[in-house]
Amino acid sequence: MRLRQPLAHSGVVSTLIHPADAPDAPWWRQAVIYQIYPRSFADADGDGLGDLAGIIGRLPFIAALGVDGIWLSPCYPSPQADAGYDVADYRAVDPRFGSLTDMETLIADAHRLGLKVLLDLVPNHSSDEHAWFVEALAAGPESPQRDRYHFARGRGPDGQEPPNNWVSVFGGPAWTQVEPGWWYLHLFDSRQPDFNWDNEQVRAEFVDVLRFWLDRGVDGFRVDVAHGLIKAEGLPDADPEVIAITPDDPRFDASIPMPCWDQDGVHEVYRGWRAVLDQYDVQEACGGRILCAEAWVEPLERAVSYVRPDEMHQAFAFPFLEAPWRAVDVRAVIESMLRGYGSVGAPVTWVLSNHDVVRHATRLGYPPAPVRPNSGIRPQDPQPDAALGLRRARAASALMLALPGSAYLYQGEELGLPEHTTLPPEVRQDPVWLRTRGESVGRDGCRVPLPWSGDAPGLGFSPTGATWLPQPDTYAALAADRQDGVPGSTLELYRTMLGWRRAAGLGRGSLAWLAHYPPGSEVLAFENAPDGGTPTVCLTNVGPTPVPRPDGELILATDELAPDGSVPTDVTVWVRADLG
Ligand code: GLC
Repeated sequence: MRLRQPLAHSGVVSTLIHPADAPDAPWWRQAVIYQIYPRSFADADGDGLGDLAGIIGRLPFIAALGVDGIWLSPCYPSPQADAGYDVADYRAVDPRFGSLTDMETLIADAHRLGLKVLLDLVPNHSSDEHAWFVEALAAGPESPQRDRYHFARGRGPDGQEPPNNWVSVFGGPAWTQVEPGWWYLHLFDSRQPDFNWDNEQVRAEFVDVLRFWLDRGVDGFRVDVAHGLIKAEGLPDADPEVIAITPDDPRFDASIPMPCWDQDGVHEVYRGWRAVLDQYDVQEACGGRILCAEAWVEPLERAVSYVRPDEMHQAFAFPFLEAPWRAVDVRAVIESMLRGYGSVGAPVTWVLSNHDVVRHATRLGYPPAPVRPNSGIRPQDPQPDAALGLRRARAASALMLALPGSAYLYQGEELGLPEHTTLPPEVRQDPVWLRTRGESVGRDGCRVPLPWSGDAPGLGFSPTGATWLPQPDTYAALAADRQDGVPGSTLELYRTMLGWRRAAGLGRGSLAWLAHYPPGSEVLAFENAPDGGTPTVCLTNVGPTPVPRPDGELILATDELAPDGSVPTDVTVWVRADLG
């Protein structure tokens, strides 16, 4: 890392808060990864559910966007009780999505196009149709087969009460009774029994699963619910007042310690996995297979412990996604993420949308409020201002992609897709909706099949026009073919952003706030200066009045500039800063 003196802008020297990476830093420290949600990306066989053949056919589209890799949400055999996050066999592909051969083709094609491939590893729980769980049920209480999961005797007379007071993230109790007095634990749906990570067979099994896919050439894994694997010894009750607050409740506070989350023992698991991945590096010098943690953990010191040098490579910086659209909040979160991740030598992994949260083009269409983003929207709820949401989403994405570190995009954000906010109740499929009987809306609204062609049935998602969830009317105008080659479209904006980010080396750059726009001003302005790359100034105006554009050649503006060239409200500009 080289400490470069920040440039002066408008005669005002900026304050360096993050140094640049070395030009030869590993790929994952700066990579942009595109999340594919296979059910909803592209359907080749016409059944209305996306598949691997659909993905393979669209890989050139993804490569041409200018990203460095893809992450595939699960496509393992699964009864789909939680859209594939209920895995019945970790070493195969669900026939609904294709075959192992299709997966091998996908990996090979992606590599040919220069794209890394990350799979989704789901180690906290399996499906209730996993062979081990089926065996466990058959084997009966206190059998070695049951020790691979958390079976426990209930409390109260005859064990008729659950063993403790934990609740499922999806609503309702975290325990289901299997025979009088005996229960099993599921932090999510009752069809997702939690593994017992104190069992050596479970540990050995997942190392083997890692190797199975690494041997097939995958470049790494996004690790689902990485903070859940280890439970506090003895499975003690949680504080009853705290456990009652669900993650979609504004009072939810993830920094309160809980016996089911973020136990210190998880780190030993990840150190073991890192050693497995590092062996592949030594053998091939391929530049790194990686682990990326999905860990909704607070406070930040605990969150970044997942990316210490001998653990995972990346962990999503969810506080960025949760920050209200106000300069003071966004600035504070950027600084704290860079400092926190930097304190353990890790890059920040920025993200604005994924398959669990309301799409950012919709979130940002509401007045800024410190709400949790993972409660969906019903037809009868206040509806977002779609134009405002899209304008801000474009500005927010440009801000994110100018930041040093890695970033994840969620399929469809490159089209500016909003959430489907008016899905009728009868089509909803998320277990969150089903388990809470509609009290929590769930995540279907961000999982709607993508629009590829504005005029085709099902907007080109599938050759038959079938789609497993209905698409909103607004998606036709946003279809990929309507935006392709259209100046100013969101698709072309993403192509420009990703092209410049890569050419200039922004992912491995430094960050220095421009002192011209001090904290408290409603402008976010920084210089990103990569070692040996082109310094770029990124300015986002979050305030009500236009602000002057920084000096230098304009690379992009996320919406039209004012007639005098100044930057209006909710617009981001990138300016090449090494001229004059
Ligand atoms: C993760 C996934 C989510 C899933 C849950 C249970 O949070 O992202 O979609 O429902 O884990 O596996």
